[in-house]
Amino acid sequence: MSGRPLHFTAFIWPNGYHESAWRVVDDDVREVLRLSYYTEIGRIAERGLLDSIFLADNIAIPEYRVTHLPQTQFDPVVVLSALTAVTDRIGLIGTGSTTYSKPWDLARRFATLDHLSGGRAGWNIVTTTTPLVAANFGEHSHPEHADRYAQAHEFVDVVQQVWDGWDDDAVVGDRGRGIWGDRAKLHAPHFRGDHYEVEGILPFPRSPQGRPVLVQAGQSSAGIGLAARYADLVFSGPPSPQAAVDHRTQLRARAAAAGRDPDHVLVLPALMVTLGGTEAEARAKARHLDELRSPEFRWQNLLYMTGHHPDEFDPDVPLPAKLYTGERLPTSGAQRLYAAAREQPDLPLRELARQLAQGPTQNHFVGTPEQLADHVIAWQDAGAADGFTIMGSTLPGELSTFVDHVVPILQARGRFRTGYAGETLRDHLGLERPAAHRATN
Ligand SMILES: Cc1cc2nc3c(=O)[nH]c(=O)nc-3n(C[C@H](O)[C@H](O)[C@H](O)COP(=O)(O)O)c2cc1C
Repeated sequence: MSGRPLHFTAFIWPNGYHESAWRVVDDDVREVLRLSYYTEIGRIAERGLLDSIFLADNIAIPEYRVTHLPQTQFDPVVVLSALTAVTDRIGLIGTGSTTYSKPWDLARRFATLDHLSGGRAGWNIVTTTTPLVAANFGEHSHPEHADRYAQAHEFVDVVQQVWDGWDDDAVVGDRGRGIWGDRAKLHAPHFRGDHYEVEGILPFPRSPQGRPVLVQAGQSSAGIGLAARYADLVFSGPPSPQAAVDHRTQLRARAAAAGRDPDHVLVLPALMVTLGGTEAEARAKARHLDELRSPEFRWQNLLYMTGHHPDEFDPDVPLPAKLYTGERLPTSGAQRLYAAAREQPDLPLRELARQLAQGPTQNHFVGTPEQLADHVIAWQDAGAADGFTIMGSTLPGELSTFVDHVVPILQARGRFRTGYAGETLRDHLGLERPAAHRATN
């Protein structure tokens, strides 16, 4: 292979990542609730020799979304466990929240997945942004951003200690002497921290990868700090190529400052793709999807993404000025909305949302397989990416096209594997199996 190999993960979303996907695909609308949907995507990704498939996790959904989008937020580890039986090589990455899980339990679930899959598990570490989750878990409030990240550091520390609780050679299996395992090779965490206390070992030996692959997608300084310290793989959502270079450069520098080899932190920006045999065909597909976008969903989602409850707003009147004239600093998501509302204070909310949604989406690639291959290589050569998180605008169609038409071009150009070299997700990513670390606390 010439140069550094590319890496790809396939993002699984019901019917595809475009909000109109479910209205254009032919399948029965309930197909996305069946295991066969996930099986098909897993097999396509494996046929294309991709590194992994990825399942997000949203543990609270606002009800307005049910009107507009398919809702299929199953427990990712449960779905991925089922896929271990029908795939052999593809990495299986699932999301788990540090704010709304217990570290020992989460460590057990992902290590189980790693065992059952023969070393293909990855954990996407999230701190959970939506405050709606708190009420589902019996909490009175959702912790602030900085507190969530402080807690996440301790959480991941503990999880790693739990994963390292058995030496790799702890299972003896000596039938003659009647010794199944060597107690001297167990190292219970005995962890006492600010947020967690975790005492004992897992009820099974260390998993094939030692530690499942750690993934992170935080974009804030605190998020990048968590990724720099722990993540093997980072998903990002950069608004421009320059932002992608800046994000990756910063992440690598902070990983190096944390004593890690920056080449062991791979960055895969998220990219929605719509492909066609010709550029005109791809554009027509993307236009059709865009035309079907719901104006109701637009304004409701805009408000929700900026931390508000859409049910409390009237879309036919302007956004209340008190929202954007207050002392409180807006979140990064809200800044664009508030700036637009300040510029046109008399514009009804629905119209404001329509204007904000116009224009090409930076992270939506529309074109031919040849053009996408050029794009991927250009980003890699510019230092903006080590590969991509591919989000088919419709699924499984766009993923099939990627696998059958983009992957061969990248292979011919010497940028992508022509066969899996190893068995585990760490093998695919070119990462070593970590030795068990012994804590000193
Ligand atoms: C590709 C991608 C996938 C993500 N998946 C999830 C997810 O499944 N669940 C979740 O709660 N957050 C998810 N996030 C959100 C991030 O974890 C993170 O909270 C967000 O990017 C904001 O960054 P910050 O937490 O550093 O402020 C995802 C982000 C990206 C870019």
